[in-house]
Amino acid sequence: MTPMIRILTIAATTLTIAAASLTAIAQQAPKPEQLIKWRQSAYQVVAWNTGRIKASLDGSYNKDEVAKAANTIAAIANTGLGALFPAGTEQGKGWHDTAVKPELFQDGKKVGEYAANFSREATELAKVAAVGDPAAVKDQYAKLTRTCKSCHDDFRAKD
Ligand code: HEC
Repeated sequence: MTPMIRILTIAATTLTIAAASLTAIAQQAPKPEQLIKWRQSAYQVVAWNTGRIKASLDGSYNKDEVAKAANTIAAIANTGLGALFPAGTEQGKGWHDTAVKPELFQDGKKVGEYAANFSREATELAKVAAVGDPAAVKDQYAKLTRTCKSCHDDFRAKD
């Protein structure tokens, strides 16, 4: 082999190996346990941030703190959490046993509506928080938390 052909052969081999390992990564679908952990974590982060907003509304109002929290909730609400509820995750353990009800996997239309309401109210809260009027934030915060409750009432088992 001439040096040039040798280099090209090595390059081609390297590319083949790289492509093969990429395919291997793509084929490793996350395990149910991982998906359940992710969704439980996402909701925990949402809850941390609703708590920060509530603390600000109940105590001395901190516009920056509320805006950061509202942006985080909106980002998570708009990230497509539905992807974390595929078939095969009706039961199982993430950080703890999943609290999802089987109905969530049967009534896609209703879940979609609840998820859309959650996204809409969270996006609106982020807008209102950026302006920073505590009374307006309080109203919008109440609208947001009603979307949590509706979904939990139907699709999350009580403790
Ligand atoms: C579209 C439905 C839906 C909406 C909207 C929703 N949740 Fe949930 N939530 C769930 C489901 C389902 C679970 C159970 C997840 C699991 O255990 O696999 C859950 C779990 C949780 C948990 C427990 C997480 C853990 O540690 O297991 C908290 C906290 C939570 N949600 C807070 C909220 C808050 C706060 C909001 C609104 C700001 C909200 N959720 C909006 C469906 C929803």
